[in-house]
Amino acid sequence: MRKSIIAGNWKMNKNIEEAMLFANEIKDSSFSKEVEVVICAPFMALYPLQSVFKDTTVKLGAQNMHYKDNGAYTGEISASMLKDAGITYVILGHSERRQYFGETDEIVNEKVKKALEKELIPILCVGETLEEREASKEKEVIAQQVQKALVGISEEDMKKVVIAYEPVWAIGTGKTATSEQANEIIAFIRMQVKELFGEVSQDISILYGGSVKPENIFDIMAQSDIDGALVGGAALKPESFVKLVNYKE
Ligand code: PGA
Repeated sequence: MRKSIIAGNWKMNKNIEEAMLFANEIKDSSFSKEVEVVICAPFMALYPLQSVFKDTTVKLGAQNMHYKDNGAYTGEISASMLKDAGITYVILGHSERRQYFGETDEIVNEKVKKALEKELIPILCVGETLEEREASKEKEVIAQQVQKALVGISEEDMKKVVIAYEPVWAIGTGKTATSEQANEIIAFIRMQVKELFGEVSQDISILYGGSVKPENIFDIMAQSDIDGALVGGAALKPESFVKLVNYKE
């Protein structure tokens, strides 16, 4: 069974006090039981958030991590440190990491492998830029990103991987891919996973991300291959986040 996941990606927003205000406002909300609720917060806020959510069904995610276990990597955070803080998920290969911090497919692959080894669930992000889409290269680009990020992963581990399709041109721009466009690419990603790992592809959750908001989530979630959403801007306000999770009501 594919899990429905609604994950908020706060990016570099909210200090500890703001994060705690958000958490206290939503922690007693009645969330749809069919949806796994995830909040990917900045590192500083993760540990205090864990204390608020520990007796709830809300799971926490980080937005990045390093692929080494420990050592002289100034400024980095390891998978074990996240695990130790009670974190369940980690976003890897977000387009902002690729664009501003030079993350390559090879680095993303190392991170995915380390996250799995340490029993964190990777949310692997892939997606094409506007130029790539205008040149009709989106499938080629995405197939490369998927294949390279998943090198050396076992079929057993693949079952735990979550993929997020986030077209770069739709992130934070207000331009959402149409539900059909998103579904087409997500079905294509599932096919790529099938070629690499076989039937496991039917069980993994693939999310859409890029200007998802309470007004469009229902249509997005109604698509056959889309299992959830990774949401930036619209996940920053408690009321909007609760609406996204309870999109069916
Ligand atoms: P957005 O961001 O919802 O603000 O477009 C999505 C993301 O980058 O994960």
